[in-house]
Formats: sequence, C-alpha cells, structure tokens
Amino acid sequence: MKVLVVGGNGTIGKKVCERFLKKHTVIVAGRNSGDVNVDFSDSNSIKSMFDTVGKLDAIVSIAGDAKWDKFNNLTEEDFYIGIKSKLMGQVNLVRIGKDYLNQNGSITLSTGILADDPVDMTTSAAMVNGGIHSFVKAVALELENNTRINAVSSDLVEDAYEKYKEYFPGNTPVPMDKVVDGYVKCIEGKITGRIVRIFA
Ligand SMILES: NC(=O)c1ccc[n+]([C@@H]2O[C@H](COP(=O)([O-])OP(=O)(O)OC[C@H]3O[C@@H](n4cnc5c(N)ncnc54)[C@H](OP(=O)(O)O)[C@@H]3O)[C@@H](O)[C@H]2O)c1
Repeated sequence: MKVLVVGGNGTIGKKVCERFLKKHTVIVAGRNSGDVNVDFSDSNSIKSMFDTVGKLDAIVSIAGDAKWDKFNNLTEEDFYIGIKSKLMGQVNLVRIGKDYLNQNGSITLSTGILADDPVDMTTSAAMVNGGIHSFVKAVALELENNTRINAVSSDLVEDAYEKYKEYFPGNTPVPMDKVVDGYVKCIEGKITGRIVRIFA
C-alpha cells in the first residue's frame, strides 16, 4: 500500500512509520519534517500536499495541537488553536484527502484518552478529541468508494511518559508496540467508523 503519514516524524508517528515500512511504501508529512511539507491547519497547504503525493491507499494523521490551561484562563482564541489544528486539520484532511484515495482506501485519525478520561487543564484538548470521535462515526456512513475511516485513541504513550507524566497521575503508559498495533488494525484490517482505544 502507498501510505501517507501526517506527523510521521513525531513521537508516535516515528514508531508507526517504522512498522509500516516493513510492508508498505510510506510518505511522511510534517510542517518542518518528512518527505513533504504540510500545515494541516491550512486547507490550501493540504491540497498542495495531496497534489504532490498523488493517489494513495491510506491516509494516517498522527498530529494536532490544542492549548492546555485552566478553563478560567482559556480565551476564545485559545480554544480556536485546537479547533483549527487538531479538529479542523483532521476534518479537512478527510474532506480533501478522500478524493486522492484509491478504491478501498482508508483514513486513520488520532485523538487520545482525554476524550473519555480528561485530566486537569484539558477542556480544549478533550473537547476536540470528542468532536473527532463523533465526526468519524458520522462520516463513516457517507464515505464513497468503500473508503474506511477510524480514529486511534491512546492513553499516554511510553515514549512521551517522561514529558507528560506530571499531567497524568496514575495513568499507566501504553507500550509503543501496542499503540502501533492500533494503527495497523485500522489500515490493514476491515473496520470502519470505529474509535480504537489503546490503553495499557
Ligand atoms: N504523546 C501521547 O502520549 C499521546 C497520546 C494520545 C494521543 N496523542 C495525540 O497524538 C498526536 C501525536 O502525538 P505525538 O506525541 O506523537 O506528538 P509530537 O511528538 O509532537 O509529533 C507531532 C507530529 O505532527 C507534526 N505536526 C504537528 N502539527 C502539524 C500541523 N499543523 N501540520 C502538519 N504536521 C503537524 C509534527 O511535525 P512538524 O513539527 O514537522 O510539523 C510532528 O511530526 C497528537 O495529536 C497527540 O495529541 C498523543
């Protein structure tokens, strides 16, 4: 399969690409890293990336930011960071990218445990993740050409544990192989409209 991984040079993306490379042709995309550049908070940039890479069998997104802060501190503009990046970035990847998929292609998005089990300071990040879950379930009913769509929702991953452990007291980090398995299940399996939850 020819697979595009937006965020393929990130903490999770690197491990996913290492596994995919054993069986597939992988194109890595990022703002400042990878084989092709994209800022997926900008639809023109997404369109230009797809024009550059051409037809694909799978689109995988493992990217997207949201502002973390106490609810009392978050401004309207702060909420738009997550909405423009992680939420609409991934929605626009689907909206534009579906036309670049071959028959029986797939799209896999990334959310995270905050959708189901938020921690302090995550009203924006949790909201965005939950929005993507609803989007995936709804758009799966409408995609044509046998295109499948799913989201992988991991708990804190092992490779990010040191960086984020203070924010997630008591969360058991997920082994990277288990996280990667979630993405493999989505692109090599047959599921669609599913939120694949990966917890330790
Ligand atoms: N780390 C965890 O424990 C964990 C758990 C569950 C879910 N998640 C979610 O999974 C995703 C990836 O997490 P991570 O820890 O692997 O993050 P990361 O290490 O920061 O990597 C993010 C990757 O995405 C790319 N990227 C970021 N913004 C982009 C944009 N606007 N357009 C295109 N590419 C962009 C970055 O490349 P450039 O810098 O070159 O753009 C980078 O390669 C995030 O959405 C995160 O919320 C993470």
